[in-house]
Amino acid sequence: MCGIVGVTGVKGASGVVYKRLSLLEYRGYDSAGIASLDNGKISFCKRRGRVFSLAGDLKNLHGDTAIGHTRWATHGKPSDENAHPHTAGKFSVVHNGIIENYSALKEKFFSGVKFFSETDTEIVARLLNYFYDGDILNTLKKTLPLLQGSYALVVICADFDGIIVARHKNPVIVGYGKNCAYTASDLSALAGLCTEISVLEDGDTAFLTKHGIEFYNSEFERTERSKRENPAQSAELELNGCPHYMLKEIREVPSSIIKTADAYICTRDKIKRYLTGADRIIITGCGTAYNSGLIGKRYIESFARIPVEVETAGEFRYKQPIVTKNTVVIAISQSGETADTVEAARLVKSLGAKVIAVTNSPYSELTRIADAAVPVEAGQEICVAATKSYTGQLSALYLLALTLADKDEKEGAEALKVAADIIARTIEHTDIGTLAEACARSSGVYFIGRDLDFAVATEGSLKLKEISYVPSEGYPAGELKHGTLALIDIKTVSVCIICDGELAKKSENAVEQIISRKGKVAVITNVPETVNRLKGKAEIIEIEDCGKFLSPLLSAVIVQLLAYKTALLLDRDPDKPRNLAKSVTVE
Ligand code: F6R
Repeated sequence: MCGIVGVTGVKGASGVVYKRLSLLEYRGYDSAGIASLDNGKISFCKRRGRVFSLAGDLKNLHGDTAIGHTRWATHGKPSDENAHPHTAGKFSVVHNGIIENYSALKEKFFSGVKFFSETDTEIVARLLNYFYDGDILNTLKKTLPLLQGSYALVVICADFDGIIVARHKNPVIVGYGKNCAYTASDLSALAGLCTEISVLEDGDTAFLTKHGIEFYNSEFERTERSKRENPAQSAELELNGCPHYMLKEIREVPSSIIKTADAYICTRDKIKRYLTGADRIIITGCGTAYNSGLIGKRYIESFARIPVEVETAGEFRYKQPIVTKNTVVIAISQSGETADTVEAARLVKSLGAKVIAVTNSPYSELTRIADAAVPVEAGQEICVAATKSYTGQLSALYLLALTLADKDEKEGAEALKVAADIIARTIEHTDIGTLAEACARSSGVYFIGRDLDFAVATEGSLKLKEISYVPSEGYPAGELKHGTLALIDIKTVSVCIICDGELAKKSENAVEQIISRKGKVAVITNVPETVNRLKGKAEIIEIEDCGKFLSPLLSAVIVQLLAYKTALLLDRDPDKPRNLAKSVTVE
């Protein structure tokens, strides 16, 4: 959330930052800004709106050093003034995170002074300038300990021919180039620019110049940080003829399943070590990651018969979790940087539980905290709405459940690959257009199902509401009659998922109840008897059978496609839904 890029030692630095910021818009897109440094002179431009609104200003931003920011507002509405960078005297700052005590600091150091913006970030630029005595490290020593909250700060100073980076909780990486250096909030921003990176640790600061990168630890002592390969590939950032990243990423679901299955087999032994002796499992995550945990619970309880609780990370942290050394906490996060999930993992680890991360981000904070990481090999996901990472998470959880049950994961990996083939065929051939039109016209869409189908219904509802803004809820099919049925009328659409033959008749009862109340119903099913029984009464989307436990991967793709098509019909941008951003690194 909030994208940051900085480059030093690069001709036309502001142009490079501009291009790379565009790749980071999924982290926030309500305003953007760039500051450049040219022979000790800082210039900047910042605006409400998308990164492209800065294009005309680049001609005024000279020099070999520049920093940029694309914002997802936390403190202060989206506006030109509140856009980053924030500049005071010799310092210009971009920030990801929240300075929680900014009001108190303002009162203490700048009482009566009128600030330019309403943000929590301006205080950082002001403090740096206030404490500046010609020695930047000294200035940081005085400023950073005062800041409470979280930050990835990227700073330029008129007196320093380079960039200063500081980290407390929010991720930031630095990259090595030939006679130049880079920094960014995400690996993807540096794809194709540099092959080697370092990840700053909590409390680190770094000084980037064209001669190299110097690191300081939280005590402001010189330290080294290891160089790692930058896994981000620039090819992954291309749309390859697809109109949107969301569609491209749905089409990549099959390959993400196959790659995740292969990667699991390679890491299985390490993961098994941490699972041995587990007598209770807690799964935690947010949003889509939480929804994948609902399915993970069913896998683990069915295969291994170990009790599992699933908790949203933001709630779990504050519930005084009860864990023992035999509790395994599975923390699921595409980005590995979601603040609630990372903090929940940190907390339970400190209480003695083992933590297994299920993540698409091998260098993330979550991976660092966890005892072991189950890789989700979805590749870069750019659309704000999670798609291929969700099915990747389900694949990883399926195999992890087999490990817990001492079952053959290789057979499981083969089954996943068969499912991936079916999904690839389905994406090409499923026509969801009529249902999408009904959803786009409706007053609300209810996704229902039982057991695993209910878990997919929950995800279908999240996907639809977040990118089309059509009100939507996911319900267990049996719960409808206990309240929600009151909402059903001719303007509503209900999408019922029936992919478990044993429960089919029960879910069909719910369908009949909706039809009796004149609600429109569509049924996503792989059960031939259901097709026969409901044909003519409900719209039927018949899908192939992937088996009870892998059907959620296929029905999930159908609801993803439905959300995508509905969003297009309503003229929404499916890749950048309003008010949202990917990687929620603030609480
Ligand atoms: C929904 C979506 C979000 C994320 C959630 C957690 O499509 O993408 O609900 O799933 O913000 O993000 P990660 O998985 O990065 O922790």
